[in-house]
Amino acid sequence: MIASQTIFNAIIAAEITIDTKANDAGKNTQSARSGSQPIDSAPVAADVSYRTAQATDAGGLWKMVCADSTLEANSPYAYVLMATHFQETCWIAEQNGELAGFVAAYHPPTEPDAVFVWQVCSAPQWRGHGIGTSLLQNLVRGARPQTRYLTATVTPDNQASEKLFRGFARRINAPVQVGEGFPTSLFPDERSQPEMLFRIGPF
Ligand SMILES: CC(C)(COP(=O)(O)OP(=O)(O)OC[C@H]1O[C@@H](n2cnc3c(N)ncnc32)[C@H](O)[C@@H]1OP(=O)(O)O)[C@@H](O)C(=O)NCCC(=O)NCCS
Repeated sequence: MIASQTIFNAIIAAEITIDTKANDAGKNTQSARSGSQPIDSAPVAADVSYRTAQATDAGGLWKMVCADSTLEANSPYAYVLMATHFQETCWIAEQNGELAGFVAAYHPPTEPDAVFVWQVCSAPQWRGHGIGTSLLQNLVRGARPQTRYLTATVTPDNQASEKLFRGFARRINAPVQVGEGFPTSLFPDERSQPEMLFRIGPF
């Protein structure tokens, strides 16, 4: 387990190092990752930096989610909790000081070897430029050392989300299992789509 964690961390570290160089150059990383890298690449947005969240980020996260038609907005208080109590698993992407994306996640108390992605979002103008992938990479790299799985639920109609998680798994050479997450019957609203559980790992 320690060996696989070490190998995984090395892959993630290499990936992030290359991403940083690509960001500096402001260009696609496809060629930079050929050769010995066991992972492929997505086009990377220029000048985007990544850091863990602070309490003062919560309002921006809430506004970004409210502006998105796909995501379910939670209360502003919920984002304050994510940016404080779950700060180490809540990552921010910034471009020129502006919020370009975020991932809010936590370690489920009943699954200490997993990190569960609660919400991930990139700014509409930056989608398809690698920000979602980089947020997941940073999340896993900064997660607790015993972390071997990344989990998330995805509705069947959210192709961008499915592509994001499958692409992340492909880049780290980890298997993906898809099963029942939360059925519609659990929700009191009128939703018609279940939440399918994506389980990526072990890594
Ligand atoms: C899902 C989301 C976070 C992806 O972020 P992103 O920054 O675009 O992700 P990336 O640029 O790293 O792309 C990851 C992969 O998804 C693919 N992708 C991105 N947007 C896509 C779309 N609209 N349709 C299909 N594929 C898409 C990319 O091509 C890439 O594929 P690859 O791994 O084969 O190269 C973003 O689309 C978003 O914010 N959507 C609205 C909120 C949401 O649905 N969040 C997920 C549920 S919590």
